[in-house]
Amino acid sequence: MSDYRYLLSEREIPKFWYNVVPDLPAPLPPPLHPGTLQPARPQDLEAIFPHALIEQEVTAAQNIPIPEPVLDILRLWRPTPLHRAVRLEKALGTPAKIFFKNEGVSPAGSHKPNTAIAQAYYNKTAGVKRLTTETGAGQWGSALSLACNVFGMECMVYMVKCSFYQKPHRRTMMECWGAKCVPSPSDLTQAGRKILAEDPETPGSLGIAISEAVEDAATHKETNYSLGSVLNHVLLHQTVIGKEAMAQMELAGASPDIVIGCCGGGSNFAGLAFPFVPEKAAGKNIRLIAVEPAACPTMTKGIYAYDFGDKSGMTPLLKMDTLGHDFIPPGIHAGGLRYHGMSPLVSLLHRAGVVEAVSYPQLKCFEAALTFARAEGLIVEPETSHAVCCVVEEALKAKEEGREKTILFNLSGHGHFDMAAYEKYFAGELSDYEYPEAKIREALAHLPKAS
Ligand SMILES: Cc1ncc(COP(=O)(O)O)c(C=O)c1O
Repeated sequence: MSDYRYLLSEREIPKFWYNVVPDLPAPLPPPLHPGTLQPARPQDLEAIFPHALIEQEVTAAQNIPIPEPVLDILRLWRPTPLHRAVRLEKALGTPAKIFFKNEGVSPAGSHKPNTAIAQAYYNKTAGVKRLTTETGAGQWGSALSLACNVFGMECMVYMVKCSFYQKPHRRTMMECWGAKCVPSPSDLTQAGRKILAEDPETPGSLGIAISEAVEDAATHKETNYSLGSVLNHVLLHQTVIGKEAMAQMELAGASPDIVIGCCGGGSNFAGLAFPFVPEKAAGKNIRLIAVEPAACPTMTKGIYAYDFGDKSGMTPLLKMDTLGHDFIPPGIHAGGLRYHGMSPLVSLLHRAGVVEAVSYPQLKCFEAALTFARAEGLIVEPETSHAVCCVVEEALKAKEEGREKTILFNLSGHGHFDMAAYEKYFAGELSDYEYPEAKIREALAHLPKAS
């Protein structure tokens, strides 16, 4: 009989974050100042980020200690369980062993609090009183609301309009933790008002919501901006997932051949996969697969270039896989995967061949999520369903080839706020979007001129 879960005690929570930068196959191109297009200096970022996070953004140190007050909050739900999906293996009839890390057990329901708690802590210790942010699916906004509440700070969340109406209870959740949440674009910022004037019916996008949150932070006293993915320090904070998973896989007497995570800005994927990069660099045959939606195929169809992180061109330029900051993805239910860019760290590793990327349309992902729910009982977020889809595909490939692969994936969030999406799926009202080639071509034509 196989065990279903592998658990660590509170004392075994990692005490250090893992920084992948020293293990990169090439130097990471620096962010550029949006005005001068010259490498941004740390002080350029000080208007919206605290010093400690800027330092983590640029550090080349391998192991970064996790402050005790952060560990103290993470202990409320960490270490998260590692599950062996024995019943899914049986349902698929695969010889593959399937493991997953369950980040859905956090108070906000996803991996996002791992960095929200750290970011709120560093801002609080820098004397900041209020944080602004964007949110797609609502998971990040919920996580930051929770974190601000824990550290006694105000929180203002700009939620992508289509997700705001798809998931009204996410906003209520944020309000439970004392935050304010408005649909984006809003009339509260210049960036929002401009976009509403051009297209009052826009579904919104993460790029637009970032513009609003950055503008809010830059124009209000004692207010900083906080980003839920993409940046180096965010991915760093998520590596507790992979570090725990490594210890738990050892308990299970297993080692992954394939590591899978869905990718919006890259943080949950990196959190699980980056701690395995040194093993891969040392010659271990291990595949790291990042999964994205076919409707927003940043890595599989985008280009590797400098681009803005937001729609209005207010953020520094990052060298990343991008579809163009003007691109507004179709309103798929995986709102957290509707981002035009990708973390520079994940992008560099993707372009270097260390990370593979695949994309799937949403109907196939919902189908895989239901196979998973009916075997394992857990209902995943539409974002996570992309990882599950890839797991099912790899497990069936192992069956066809008669090979006993070990697959590890990140269950990045539960889907309890996503019943409207599942309802639409059952009613046959969900459709796949065509690959928006013309819109992407147009957006790529507007890339800033930096090489
Ligand atoms: C549950 C879940 N998984 C994945 C993502 C994608 O973001 P990232 O690539 O930063 O993990 C999100 C974003 O909102 C999310 O809520």
